[in-house]
Amino acid sequence: MSHSNPPSPHRFAGNGPLKGRIRVPGDKSISHRAIMLGALAVGETRVSGLLEGEDVLATAAAMRAMGASVERGPDGVWSVHGVGVGSLLQPESALDMGNSGTSTRLLMGLVASHPIDVTFVGDASLSKRPMQRVITPLSQMGAAYEARDGDRLPLLSRGISPAVPITYRLPVASAQVKSAVLLAGLNTAGTTRVIEPVPTRDHSERMLRGFGAKLEVGEENGARIITVHGEADLQPQTITVPGDPSSAAFFAVAALLVEGSDLVIENVGLNPTRAALFDVLRDMGGQIEELDRREVGGEPVADLHVRHSALTGVDVDPAIVPAMVDEFPILFIAASMASGTTTTRGLEELRVKESDRITAMANALTLAGARVEEREDGLIIRGTGGDPLPGTPDGAAVTTHLDHRIAMSMAVAGLASSDGVEVDDTTPIATSFPTFMDLLEGAQG
Ligand code: S3P
Repeated sequence: MSHSNPPSPHRFAGNGPLKGRIRVPGDKSISHRAIMLGALAVGETRVSGLLEGEDVLATAAAMRAMGASVERGPDGVWSVHGVGVGSLLQPESALDMGNSGTSTRLLMGLVASHPIDVTFVGDASLSKRPMQRVITPLSQMGAAYEARDGDRLPLLSRGISPAVPITYRLPVASAQVKSAVLLAGLNTAGTTRVIEPVPTRDHSERMLRGFGAKLEVGEENGARIITVHGEADLQPQTITVPGDPSSAAFFAVAALLVEGSDLVIENVGLNPTRAALFDVLRDMGGQIEELDRREVGGEPVADLHVRHSALTGVDVDPAIVPAMVDEFPILFIAASMASGTTTTRGLEELRVKESDRITAMANALTLAGARVEEREDGLIIRGTGGDPLPGTPDGAAVTTHLDHRIAMSMAVAGLASSDGVEVDDTTPIATSFPTFMDLLEGAQG
């Protein structure tokens, strides 16, 4: 896991346009869910295109520790043999979640309605992240918790069966919290409901249905209401994971910014609850064309043809924040080299990601020579008008705070800078995008 690796600094500098065709790895959110649901279905689930990043491997190891078999075949297709809903085993030792908030929060939901005790541990970044948001609803269902400082890892979960079905209104727009409650509801007799005032990524709902869970999605007073019926009986599936739009985002912005670029990014998932970045980039003047729109694994997918473009700053509508919540760091890079000002608001959740992404990006961009003003809930960025950023001064490096998306965003900034950007640690990139450095080298060849 990333916390045991020594830091690996790297200087990213321009090395010509990005050209040709690349294929980004599988979607992280979908990969976690495929393994978790496969581990709850009796029989063999086969998963192709699984993201083999550290975060997903942490989920795989956790499901093995609770009785499932999760193995990679020689053809790269993963095979999961599940234990059945209600039959997760008590793990013998603590589950190491590494850097992964999604693994932790979704698994906390899964184990809450099983009569097992599970200890979760993680790296320095994950150990700072708030877990109260899942502890609150899962405690209402009957689970109990002991955690450092009340809600931080290391955390002991004492699950319960039978658990109590609840109706829970999400106080923050969070797919992780929604999914934790729905997963707990799988082994809970009766109906468990989540009310979602602001829609968040719906991969859990789509995949639960695909596995045969009884799940309904309705609407009341503008809110989404998701109902899952327990106790569920999941049927094994064959799943193809589409490419991760959150990974494609780095290459899309790199191609927009670096002069002469003309790049096709194949097989990009474009679920509307995820893909808002590409719309914002088009509003800024970015040439991003969708080719061959199709469906892969129940999700909309297309190839994206991206060409170098002159960008103009925009005022980003806070209503679309959940549909690009992980893409703000890379949007900030595009904004820093656009003409005019980009304003973002309503980004409070960015402060509790793998790092405080508002402060981390404000500091990193300022060091690289961008004009950035930090607000409590967002950044205001005055762009260079198409000129490259100066880059980091000699002897200085941007701090990634164990956050893959800060590392990759500043890498892209480096490609479009005059003197390059020194990133203090590239090891976190392996949590979500292990092929990033190779693809970057290949596309610039
Ligand atoms: C995720 C949900 C988002 C996102 C994270 C993955 C998921 O977190 O930031 O990278 O797979 O459900 P929140 O639900 O906390 O916003």
